[in-house]
Amino acid sequence: MTQPVEIAFKEIDIDALSAFEGRIVLSAGEEGKLGPTGRKLDRLMKGALRRALASSSFAKLSPGESLDLGWPVGLAAEAVQILRLERRADQAQARKAGGAVGAKLGERGAIMLAEGVNRAADVAFGLALRAYQFNYHTSGNSAFGPVTVMSATPEELAAQAAPHAALAEGVFFTRDLVNEPANILTTDDFAARLAAMHELGLQVEILEEEQLKELGMGALLGVGQGSESPSKVVVMQWNGGGDEAPFALVGKGVVFDTGGISLKPGAGMEDMTMDMGGAGVVSGVMRTLALRKAKANVVGLVGLVENMPDGKAQRPGDIVKSMKGDTIEVINTDAEGRLVLADVLWYAQERFKPRAMVNLATLTGAVIVALGHENAGLFANDDKFVGDILKAAKSEGEGAWHMPLQPAYDSLIKSRLADVKNTGGRPAGSITAAAFLKRFVKDDVPWCHIDIAGVALPPGATDLAPKGATGWGVMTLDRLIRDTFEG
Ligand code: BES
Ligand code: MN
Ligand code: ZN
Repeated sequence: MTQPVEIAFKEIDIDALSAFEGRIVLSAGEEGKLGPTGRKLDRLMKGALRRALASSSFAKLSPGESLDLGWPVGLAAEAVQILRLERRADQAQARKAGGAVGAKLGERGAIMLAEGVNRAADVAFGLALRAYQFNYHTSGNSAFGPVTVMSATPEELAAQAAPHAALAEGVFFTRDLVNEPANILTTDDFAARLAAMHELGLQVEILEEEQLKELGMGALLGVGQGSESPSKVVVMQWNGGGDEAPFALVGKGVVFDTGGISLKPGAGMEDMTMDMGGAGVVSGVMRTLALRKAKANVVGLVGLVENMPDGKAQRPGDIVKSMKGDTIEVINTDAEGRLVLADVLWYAQERFKPRAMVNLATLTGAVIVALGHENAGLFANDDKFVGDILKAAKSEGEGAWHMPLQPAYDSLIKSRLADVKNTGGRPAGSITAAAFLKRFVKDDVPWCHIDIAGVALPPGATDLAPKGATGWGVMTLDRLIRDTFEG
């Protein structure tokens, strides 16, 4: 998997700074006042730093943005990057500033002078998140050079930064999975990558089609029956808590969604390699929990299938039987994610009796119409629980919005021939999808469905990720687990 850039914390060393051939990063605080090391650098640069700080270009920067001085005189560096950071910068501003550094990082690496920088550990974390490149399939790549953070208190800073390492690795694991094309990330390959997390202390089980048939997962199996790749459910357990019931995470893992017989239009179909995004987030969270040895019991379950058109594929009009026992009329084979989740949600509850459950899925195009790429849509049966998730998302800077889910929407998915149908037509498309899922959730289980179709793979770079997969949700769920289920 893609590894986060190496970041070391060291004492301030002006000679090393002046001889360094990569990028030098510093901040001048609100009043543009340089610290003692900054003043030494400015002297070497014949006053260029102070002139830049006094310029209108610097004044126009928003907090968290930066200015580049290229090939500075008096130094060996490629560039000096000046961050605009407020003295009381909050976590979001510090991470954004780090993102600006990560976005420009090159093969020679960087030295960041933490002098006068509040929340330098968060700046380093933002840097690590943004300095991601998915380059397994391109030739002639160069890796990012190492990053050194120079500080008067390097040990203290290193201690503050340490917990971020597990989180960055979880996010990168998710991004790699989401970016990977479907000819490589088949259901078999996905399951093998999860099985390999056994080494980290996770218990990983792979349920194959035979077992899924015995369990009665007709809804999930119907989706995968047109594919050459076998359908699977992977169960990952992290038992770091006591003997309490686990928190369950469930993910939609459609490794490619052609729409099936209700075939999608060709334009943009290549993006449907990301339709396993929910399963990707669940996997990334489990990795983070194992790496940081979380003191909680968490079980992650993912339904891995491929939705293909074929002689064996399911048809519109087919009626399938779910593990719960409810029959489902498949109006549109492209509304497949909810069919997969119905069976995995039910299995999760029957086997683990979870204290709470969250599912994540790139479930509907309609959620993008509603919320764009800024917020994931949250649908829940418990206001307190959704409040906890919104709070976690806010504190990690990931956009999340609570959407309605009243019983009134249930009438839109009534079927003439079966217990329920899998689509409700044009109105409220992301809500009817959630209403469908709710049928497969027991009333006494606090549950939230998170539709990440808009945020898993937005159309451009964000502050903390290059163009491509974001890993949205790994940080929110890790925060939720820390704050709600640990200690
Ligand atoms: N995987 C798609 C949803 C999606 C769309 C994800 C765009 C990411 C970006 C899902 O399986 C799907 O096809 N949903 C249909 C449902 C419809 C047939 C009721 C949709 O949203 O159009
Ligand atoms: Mn679909
Ligand atoms: Zn889909």
